[in-house]
Amino acid sequence: MCGIIGYSGPLEARNILLDGLAGLEYRGYDSAGIALCMEDSSICLAKKVGKVKTLRDYCDSSIRGTAHSGIGHTRWATHGGVTDANAHPHRAGKVTLIHNGIIENYHALTEQFKLQDKLISQTDSEVAAWALDALYDGDPLKAIRALKNQLEGSYSFCILFDDQPGSVYAIRSVSPLVAAYTHAGAMVASDLTALIPYTNQYFVVPENRIVKLTSYKIHVYDLDDAFTKEYPEILTVNWNMDAAMKNGFPHFMMKEIHEQPEAMKNTILPRMNKGLPDFCDDHIPDDLFTGCSQIHIVACGTAMHAGMVARAVMEPILRIPVTVSIASEFRYEEPLINDKTLVIIISQSGETIDTLAALRLAHDYGSRTLAVVNVKGSTIARESDYVLYTHAGPEIAVASTKAYSVQLAALYMVGCRMALVRGVFTEKQATDFLTDLLDAIPAMETMIAQEDTIKQVITHIIQSPDAFFIGRGLDYAFSLEGALKLKEISYIHSEAYAAGELKHGTIALISDQVPVIAIATQQHVFAKTISNIREVKARGAFIILLTKESAVVDDTLADIQIHIPDVDDRFTVFPIVVVLQLIAYYASLGKNLDVDQPRNLAKSVTVE
Ligand code: F6R
Repeated sequence: MCGIIGYSGPLEARNILLDGLAGLEYRGYDSAGIALCMEDSSICLAKKVGKVKTLRDYCDSSIRGTAHSGIGHTRWATHGGVTDANAHPHRAGKVTLIHNGIIENYHALTEQFKLQDKLISQTDSEVAAWALDALYDGDPLKAIRALKNQLEGSYSFCILFDDQPGSVYAIRSVSPLVAAYTHAGAMVASDLTALIPYTNQYFVVPENRIVKLTSYKIHVYDLDDAFTKEYPEILTVNWNMDAAMKNGFPHFMMKEIHEQPEAMKNTILPRMNKGLPDFCDDHIPDDLFTGCSQIHIVACGTAMHAGMVARAVMEPILRIPVTVSIASEFRYEEPLINDKTLVIIISQSGETIDTLAALRLAHDYGSRTLAVVNVKGSTIARESDYVLYTHAGPEIAVASTKAYSVQLAALYMVGCRMALVRGVFTEKQATDFLTDLLDAIPAMETMIAQEDTIKQVITHIIQSPDAFFIGRGLDYAFSLEGALKLKEISYIHSEAYAAGELKHGTIALISDQVPVIAIATQQHVFAKTISNIREVKARGAFIILLTKESAVVDDTLADIQIHIPDVDDRFTVFPIVVVLQLIAYYASLGKNLDVDQPRNLAKSVTVE
């Protein structure tokens, strides 16, 4: 949801900013812009609808001269359409500003500062820029502090003041911001992907601090105007530039599908001790697992789907209620949770605003929280009581793939540890469970190796405007993820249904050749699912059946069968999800769409 970057240093700022924006582009790609503080201290602004490439071409043809500081933005539109005027940076008197987040009280601020005749865009961000200009009397820190007191909402800003050449100011509330002083100069950005070419050391800009970048230093100020006494903790990134490059793959999504087996190992193996799950290095105490009488999982999108799979696996083992909620709903409910509830928050980015609000609500209710997060130092990771990092490395494609698998790997380990310490599993059962989890990794590799076979099914899917995914139990939970993946990158309307529920209405939509991806990997409901497949087959559906190698099915049942290796029923998600991801990938490719950056979407949803 918008990527921002600020730079001050000895190098050509234009290149640093444009390269940084290319690394941040997955956060939003409706428009992009930069503002440079030129050598004569004038501000040069360039902004364009479209991707960073369009902006780069425009800058190459229109900008003359050198700059050593500036700010850059790539936008995912919230307030106002996708136009050059709504693109950032926004100029307001002596202020030039970029923003990630939402200013909720922008109407009130427009009135208060009498901005009606000044605004040339429809954005909340321009209102913040003019308000800051009105508050500015030559002291940037004082003005930013005063602005902060006026704002409601979430934001990270980078700001240039006309009369402070060479300095870039930044502040954040909720929206992410990391900073680093590198051999190339001082940098601040929404995400590490912009900083990683220059350093592996960074800090998370704390809320309620103002940072000032100059070519020789990053200054950090408390809001009370004094230099901060305590410099933020310096963190080290555990991945390098290679992880953020395509490395020969045509798309990030394909690369990330291929990275799943390795990411699974990285997430599981360091937490195994003598064949048992062990969270000592994560500082997660066992009383977190023994002291609860219910589990509530909260997340959004794909992460929520991982939660649904985890629920279906954990509840029958633990025999305590495990509930899954959509974070954007949960946060406005009055949930039945208390100090005996373990709330598990799942988020790849660790910045999803609804998931963060859910975490805070859980704390308000006295629940203990455990976050399963991929991004080190992210807000959710910092605010939760305990964090279990997944080790997927950066996920750049907007469609989540490897993050889902490792979230599940982590959650399966949590389920196993809980079962062990609650006395539900013997050590032998826990070891067997983890052995089955590890066995799922070669099963994923087998399915990745079948990508050419899976590609064949696409012709039947991309000819249809609709597709259905059906399954029962765990297979239904996988179906939800399959349908989401397909719709978000191929734009084919796809729905997931519990196979037995179809006949209660939705079967009316099944007609000749409508593709139905039927998942049947769960033995205890296998025969029932097969009957449901026959019902749609009888109405002309084109059936693509995903099942286990050993499954015995009549040849006439499905038009195409894809077999996964015979792993234990509780672990079929790992090979199945590879198939679902590849179906979506090839459907998008087959329709000639932008696989990594699908329309209307962005990674890291930092607005409600
Ligand atoms: C879909 C997808 C999204 C995210 C969701 C939550 O492919 O990526 O549905 O899963 O926006 O994001 P995180 O996990 O960052 O909280």
